[in-house]
Amino acid sequence: MVDFQGIINGINATAAKTDNRGLCATYIPELAKVDLAKFGIHLINIQQQSFSSGDSDERFSIQSISKVFTLSMALGLVGEKLWQRVDVEPSGDPFNHLSLLEMENGIPRNPLINPGAIVVADILVSLLENPKEDFLAYVKNLANDDSINYDEEVARSEKMTGFRNYAAANLLKSYKNLVNDVDTVLDFYFHQCSISMSCAQLANAFFMFINHGKCKKNNTFLTTRQVKRINSLMLTCGFYDEAGEFAFEVGLPGKSGVGGGIVALLPNKFCVATWSPGLNAKGNSKLGMLALERLTTQTELSIF
Ligand code: DON
Repeated sequence: MVDFQGIINGINATAAKTDNRGLCATYIPELAKVDLAKFGIHLINIQQQSFSSGDSDERFSIQSISKVFTLSMALGLVGEKLWQRVDVEPSGDPFNHLSLLEMENGIPRNPLINPGAIVVADILVSLLENPKEDFLAYVKNLANDDSINYDEEVARSEKMTGFRNYAAANLLKSYKNLVNDVDTVLDFYFHQCSISMSCAQLANAFFMFINHGKCKKNNTFLTTRQVKRINSLMLTCGFYDEAGEFAFEVGLPGKSGVGGGIVALLPNKFCVATWSPGLNAKGNSKLGMLALERLTTQTELSIF
């Protein structure tokens, strides 16, 4: 059996010695306050054994990682007709770019870039009786952890500076690909992004993506086919214009967030979450990517 704990301890020791950690996101003012020295990693295997090192129990802002949860909730509720409003192609563009949206008549390239996630948020706002409460309950259920919550300071902070997301939502509205009003949808979107979770909580919540849609408690959230769809989107679109590099270096489907978190997974084997708040130029966690490259190199486990 692979010595996950030994490998993860080595990764944490290397991270602790690394000076060049990238920079915290500053366009959401609350995120700029986070300590750059933090590093955490938590891995859970298909047998539900957990391995962790560093700040793996400290909560951080999951940001775009939440797009995977909204997508899975929406896909579970509406099924395949979701793809009429959002495409499944990699964008090759940064997460907040809008030019393709205009060229492609208001159909976002995929659900993991901001405009695509805003469409998914709109779908949930239409379907759920109490969107914020119901979505939070869904994430708590997935992670089997009742203590997960929104960070109202982070949500408020992004609302004050989320000019590009307002632009995206208005553009979607002009193409009639947003049913609800812009402020309602963005309030939901800023809240989903503000959820605070630790590496351990994220790895637990992503367990269903390695286990054919069944969470750790064996409740079914998605079908095997739906999990295949979401994992494929994480592989091709989970890291924006760095998706190719992530597949090349790490070789796993995954999703990053500008809070510095990354979750990556190997179906039927393991899922892993890392956190280091310093980002590289593409907005993905610098040490997180290096850590996951070491993990798949040293374990010789990747989808390739
Ligand atoms: O909408 C935004 O810009 C942020 N709430 C989320 C962006 C993000 O996490 C991109 N990820 N790497």
